[in-house]
Amino acid sequence: MEKLGINGGTPVRTTPFPLWPDFDDTERQLILEVLDSRQWWATQGTKVKEFERQWGDFHGTGPAIAVTNGSHTLELALLGLDVGAGDEVIVPNWTFVATAAAVLMVNAVPVLVDVEFGTGCIDPVAVEAAITPRTRAVIAVHIAGHPADMDALSTICKKHGLALIEDCAHAHGSSWNNQPVGTLGDAGSYSFQASKLMTGGEGGAVIAKNPDIAAKVRSFSDCGRRPGEWFYSHYALGGNYRMTEWQGAILLAQLSRFGAQQTIRANNANLLNEELALIPGVHPQSRDSRCTSQGNYCYVVRVDEKEFGASREAVRTALLAEGISLTMAYPTINTLDLFTDPAGFLPRVRSREGMQDFANLALPISQRLADETLWFTTSVLMGSSDDTRDVISAVQKVQRLAHTLDSGL
Ligand SMILES: Cc1ncc(COP(=O)(O)O)c(C=O)c1O
Repeated sequence: MEKLGINGGTPVRTTPFPLWPDFDDTERQLILEVLDSRQWWATQGTKVKEFERQWGDFHGTGPAIAVTNGSHTLELALLGLDVGAGDEVIVPNWTFVATAAAVLMVNAVPVLVDVEFGTGCIDPVAVEAAITPRTRAVIAVHIAGHPADMDALSTICKKHGLALIEDCAHAHGSSWNNQPVGTLGDAGSYSFQASKLMTGGEGGAVIAKNPDIAAKVRSFSDCGRRPGEWFYSHYALGGNYRMTEWQGAILLAQLSRFGAQQTIRANNANLLNEELALIPGVHPQSRDSRCTSQGNYCYVVRVDEKEFGASREAVRTALLAEGISLTMAYPTINTLDLFTDPAGFLPRVRSREGMQDFANLALPISQRLADETLWFTTSVLMGSSDDTRDVISAVQKVQRLAHTLDSGL
């Protein structure tokens, strides 16, 4: 009799998916070049500068500004767009904490709004409804690589004179109407943290089409300096957010194989989109026809517990036991202790005046997605089509045998 892995049966997968992050001798070679050159510092080295040029070319912009991580990139983008004390910044309630925390870090006020049910990205209607005379910017997050509705958001931001920042931490290689994400708003923010589609362990980059904004971001990221001027002149209040040459070297190697990896991920994600949607209770993230390429950091499905016949948590643990790698969905931002605990640690914010009552905020769609989604990790998308068929078989098997699970409904 067929048995689930979690109940002692043979798992669908007994061999692991491709390891992530991926690397080969290209990384090794470039790191050794940095080592031997003794130029480990980006200010004097060549690797970060070359990566900035290539990542800018990838987007059709001037050089990117490569920095420490994808949290600092958000802060730098906000600073580069003159967002500061008391300004309101509209952010989606379903994202990683950094999107909202960056707003607090520049002493501005995050205003949380709901997301669209199909894609999980910020809802333009909710954005427009949240605009006040104090609103200065909107941050769109391209969830699991699916771009937010950048047509509607751009129109709203233009109409109200707001800056539009794209948090592209999940969206390397995504495009909207054939235009790369990161270039659709005023500034694009990337993360190269370990789980991302390109990684230097840590790292981040800001993209800005407008050279004045790019110059400001660069200056803030480099102790308020201006390129080409005396090292000890500081024109603005900035910090040291510089990337190291080690990261620059690794990211150059990662970028060189990105296109080929992207094709593999896209093919596997298409197969999953077609097949998983046929399984009762499984609803893959929807795909807007204007999303012309999806970077696919992770792969997101929503589990309708009643239709599936088991709780989301039971499905998650059963899939893990079948050898399928999953991560937890983000909790909603308004439920994080940072925001709900009256004694919460908001170091640079003197009072909560003007802030939403986070604990009692009703943003039902983001809450539903946080409660109902499963996130398959990037490595699951990096195998062959046979590997992807194993993912499909595993979900089919768990659904077929849902009644044998403890939390079968
Ligand atoms: C949507 C989003 N924004 C920002 C970040 C922050 O990036 P980093 O971890 O590089 O600081 C992440 C990282 O996980 C993210 O997922």
